Amino acid sequence: MQKKWRLTLIYSCFLFLPSLIWAQAKPAAAPKKTTTTASSNSNIKLSIERGKKVYAEQCLVCHQADGLGVSHMNPPLSKTKWVLGDKKDLIKIVLKGLNTEIEIDGDTYRNVMPPHEAVMNDQQVADVLTYIRNNFGNKASRVTETDVKGVRANAK
Ligand code: HEC
Repeated sequence: MQKKWRLTLIYSCFLFLPSLIWAQAKPAAAPKKTTTTASSNSNIKLSIERGKKVYAEQCLVCHQADGLGVSHMNPPLSKTKWVLGDKKDLIKIVLKGLNTEIEIDGDTYRNVMPPHEAVMNDQQVADVLTYIRNNFGNKASRVTETDVKGVRANAK
């Protein structure tokens, strides 16, 4: 009985060993591809975070923390055709300011918005616009530094 068991053990070793070797010889599984592309989603999040700070420094005094502005003086930034509309026009408003009479929801505004081209760089303009386009009830695509660079170069 004892001997039989020992034999079984030896035999099973012989069976087991090749399978071990075979397993070792197998090429290591290809390492899982790590997704290296920082998704544009996380970038937009960072841009919005930075934009929030820029807004506090450059826009909040007039347009207020809630983006609703001050009636008849400083217009709201919530769902207006400028905020949600053409990015170039929007960038231009921040760079060059605005001095016309505009109407939003029946309220007219004719105060002057000062230009910001001297006090804000391309990234700050992109960030603050991405922030307002995704805050105050707005949902719109981001504005990039490249967008701002282009407008700055052309809007003299
Ligand atoms: C000194 C006050 C003041 C500051 C600071 C200011 N704005 Fe304005 N903004 C105005 C006024 C006043 C108007 C309306 C101008 C007009 O009627 O011609 C305006 C208009 C706008 C408009 C177009 C109208 C609308 O409500 O959609 C946008 C967009 C805008 N501002 C965004 C900004 C952003 C972004 C900043 C910060 C980078 C900023 N503003 C800083 C006063 C200001």
